[in-house]
Amino acid sequence: MEEIMYTSRSRDPDIDRKYEEALVAVESELGQVHPARVAGEEIFADETFTVWSPIEDGLKIGVFQQCGEITAKAAFKAACDAYTAWSQTPFEVRCAHIEAAADQMEEDFFRLAATITLECAKTRTEALAETGEAVALLRYYSSVIREQNGFRQPMPADTETDRYESVLRPYGALAVISPFNFPLALGAGASAAALITGNTTVMKPASAAPLSMLTFCQILEEAGMPEGAANCITGSGPVFGEIISRSPDCAGVTFTGSRDAGRWLQQEYTTWQPYPKPMILEMGSKNPCIVTAQADLKKAAESICRGAFGYSGQKCSATSRVYVEKTVFASFAELLANRAAHCTVGDPRAKGVFMGPLINTAARERFDAAVASVIDAGGEVLSGGQSYSGEETHGAQFAEPTIVAGIPDDHPVITTELFAPLVALAPFTTMQEALHLANDTEYGLTAGIFSQDKAEVEAFFSGIRFGVCYANREGGATTGGWPGYQSFGGWNGSGSTGKGVGGPYYLLSYMREQAQSRHA
Ligand code: SER
Repeated sequence: MEEIMYTSRSRDPDIDRKYEEALVAVESELGQVHPARVAGEEIFADETFTVWSPIEDGLKIGVFQQCGEITAKAAFKAACDAYTAWSQTPFEVRCAHIEAAADQMEEDFFRLAATITLECAKTRTEALAETGEAVALLRYYSSVIREQNGFRQPMPADTETDRYESVLRPYGALAVISPFNFPLALGAGASAAALITGNTTVMKPASAAPLSMLTFCQILEEAGMPEGAANCITGSGPVFGEIISRSPDCAGVTFTGSRDAGRWLQQEYTTWQPYPKPMILEMGSKNPCIVTAQADLKKAAESICRGAFGYSGQKCSATSRVYVEKTVFASFAELLANRAAHCTVGDPRAKGVFMGPLINTAARERFDAAVASVIDAGGEVLSGGQSYSGEETHGAQFAEPTIVAGIPDDHPVITTELFAPLVALAPFTTMQEALHLANDTEYGLTAGIFSQDKAEVEAFFSGIRFGVCYANREGGATTGGWPGYQSFGGWNGSGSTGKGVGGPYYLLSYMREQAQSRHA
């Protein structure tokens, strides 16, 4: 499959050599013990956990600290201590720190991408794209806050001596919980948003992939962030969730992860905190794409393959339901199945591989159970359907790009997020029916349409109830939102704020308004 490189480095003719050299360098340094980082200090907990790469058996990413209450409390104390000075630091200075961190990430670009490949099995294309996205998020937030003059706005005054201003100010020490599937971009992006608006942070990356964020925390420290403003601790998600829920020092949460984990955290946090505090929740989805008889079917098949199977379907934006107009259903299904059969599956380090292994055995079991449930329900597997591991793949857990059809609308494969390379096709007759099927979910993150008919496209945009909507998108039917171009935020069960990551309104979620009145 031809590579599409969404990164600031896509025009670098040496991109492959640089990435491959970085892979060798980063791989040779794997297996170390990594401390947590609190107020610029290295912290070692009583217990540790080992992270193994999903790419091959025995490739040890490192040993990480199983941080409990003591370390978490120390991290929040450091973040609270740093808060007053940091929140009062002029926004231009905060921007300069974040821009310096972005510069450093550009310097370390290929090492960061290699780390992403090794810790979460992203292909080079996806890992380079994610690194580019992370840098772009930092730069974009800095540009927004500069454009908005630090979010200080004069209000009308009746007299010459009175002065009124609306000023957006931060909340305090925020917990930043990030997922395994975008281990750098989504953690670094949320942290940068928190910090640039004057909050301080305690970052907690996913246990499956903590190395990128520990590296990012070090980058922030080296970029001159004041001691305690950015802290990073590792360990169990549920344990951290319980600690922050009961911590009066935790002024709010920004969480990206599964809907179940997000909902649980929301309930815990709301129950135990003494008053409502901000929760920025970015959760999963079940993303639909509509293909009408007016579509360029070849383009749609190509793009849906990328959207459904990029990073093995383990993206919250992955295309997982495709509604196809009845008159073209059979021909489109054949095109898509042929395209899927040509996706290269293999070691994500290798050039030209489109899809690497799944993150772990649980993901493979979920995939197997889903395929079995399709067959049980009398559905059809049009392409793929198998998973495998073993000596020839060095223990990595692979699943084939899989297309199914013929299951009822309420089947779990249609209603539940799978995080696996499986997409379900279903026919429709009218646009109204297509929109009804697409919207018939509790989720609302990304959605797509393929049609050359302008009226159909406009009907899609006005009728679809999702936060990120694409018409005739190449390179991933419902995926690939880019900072400053597509704000990335879910509606309904996919997100709590309705203000997308990398969009002009995202920073508003990290601040509260203060009305300032000055009288003579
Ligand atoms: N931009 C990514 C996507 O669209 C998420 O960060 O999947």
